[in-house]
Amino acid sequence: MSYRILVVDDDENLLKSLNKILSLQHYSVDAISNPMQVEKLLERNQYHSVLLDVKMPGINGLELLKIIMQKSILTPVIMVSGQSNIEIAMRAIKEGAYDFVEKPIDPDRLLIVLKHALQHQELVEAREKITQELLKNFKMVGKSVALRNISDTIEKIAKTNIKVLITGESGTGKELVAKAIHYNSNRQTKRLSEINCAAIPRDLLENELFGHKKGAFSGAISDYDGQFLETNGGTLFLDEIGDMDIHLQAKLLRVLEENEVNVIGDTTPKKVDVRIISATNKDIEQLIKSGKLRKDLMFRLNGIRIHIPPLRERKEDILPLAYHFLNKFNDSHNRQILKINRQAESYLLNYNWPGNVRELMSVMERLVVFIKGNEITIEDIHRVFNNMNISPTAYSDVIPNLENKLADLRTAHEIFEKNYILEVLEQTDWKKSEAAQILGIDRTNLYKKMRKHGII
Ligand SMILES: Nc1ncnc2c1ncn2[C@@H]1O[C@H](COP(=O)(O)OP(=O)(O)O)[C@@H](O)[C@H]1O
Ligand SMILES: [Mg+2]
Repeated sequence: MSYRILVVDDDENLLKSLNKILSLQHYSVDAISNPMQVEKLLERNQYHSVLLDVKMPGINGLELLKIIMQKSILTPVIMVSGQSNIEIAMRAIKEGAYDFVEKPIDPDRLLIVLKHALQHQELVEAREKITQELLKNFKMVGKSVALRNISDTIEKIAKTNIKVLITGESGTGKELVAKAIHYNSNRQTKRLSEINCAAIPRDLLENELFGHKKGAFSGAISDYDGQFLETNGGTLFLDEIGDMDIHLQAKLLRVLEENEVNVIGDTTPKKVDVRIISATNKDIEQLIKSGKLRKDLMFRLNGIRIHIPPLRERKEDILPLAYHFLNKFNDSHNRQILKINRQAESYLLNYNWPGNVRELMSVMERLVVFIKGNEITIEDIHRVFNNMNISPTAYSDVIPNLENKLADLRTAHEIFEKNYILEVLEQTDWKKSEAAQILGIDRTNLYKKMRKHGII
């Protein structure tokens, strides 16, 4: 790729020689002597760097620098300055110029400064891209009130050091919330470590968290920094905290109270600065009642609680998430599936998603990979569900409940009616007259009810 450089200088002779120096190195050069044209050119073209004379008639280099930085914030600007204007060039650097070269121009020095500027620019752009990608990956998709509240909370607390306890069924997005907090915090350049307390046996977990000194126990052949030391300055995500051994919980509590770790086999505690985010898919109160979670530890961990409701209790999120995953998997599998048809949408909305967002995500991935047309239909969903061993009738709740409360009879009736109609439609492959016949109502009435229940 040839780099494109804009050169601005009112001295026509200098302009010519700069153009020659740069063109010989295969840079593509736009050289102008009228500073008033800069804005227009910046709008029209993308420059990798700008060489800017400090002093020109009509406008001063500092003002022009400001305009360039506004138009194209990431483009490095190199000031070109005569001896008498070095001071202005220094000021320009304070204002954001990348560097300066002195007149008379030494071509070697100019080329080195320019090369560095371009390298710097590439790094800045790459970092910017990565940050944007990261933040995009940790965006919580959904428009339910519950989800919006969660996003607001994340935004409010990310930059603080408050401890966060996240609760919610498996697959609701607990880990994603932990990542969103870390990558939106000032700790984002430090480590985010994750430990699943359910997956590691007690002794190993203790070692993993706190580390050991050489010789602390047989087999400890060298010093080992546990996660607390390794993660110093960063965030430690303790998943499935309810499964941590109760004695280990006492040790963890001590670390949290003192901000110090006792490395196994070491007599002097070590100071640490680690933000703790913990999570569980179990009922916290139940865990405490049954003696599985220490109450004092829970109070320590629970600086703020974020509860993520199951997907079936925030149905408004289902379709935004389905389309989000549709786009994502279209990209990663080179597919171009454009939409989910009405019936299929309605099916997704009414299924009860016991595996929550994780389940929706894998259903969408399979749909994107396996379907033939460019529109997802209910038959496609059936096929995928069959393939994943999901019972297609799992979507009708046996006992109608709303947000975990038993519904009144009228509401229960409505829920039952809707689910039953869906079930019959399912079984008749959405042939309305057949379904109407089974339900013992006429087609118009069936359509009316479907509309009422948001099925069409
Ligand atoms: N609101 C959301 N928007 C986008 N992706 C989500 C959302 N909630 C969950 N996910 C995705 O679903 C999957 C499961 O989420 P995860 O955080 O691992 O759940 P948990 O830790 O509660 O089991 C992950 O791939 C996650 O990125
Ligand atoms: Mg998880």
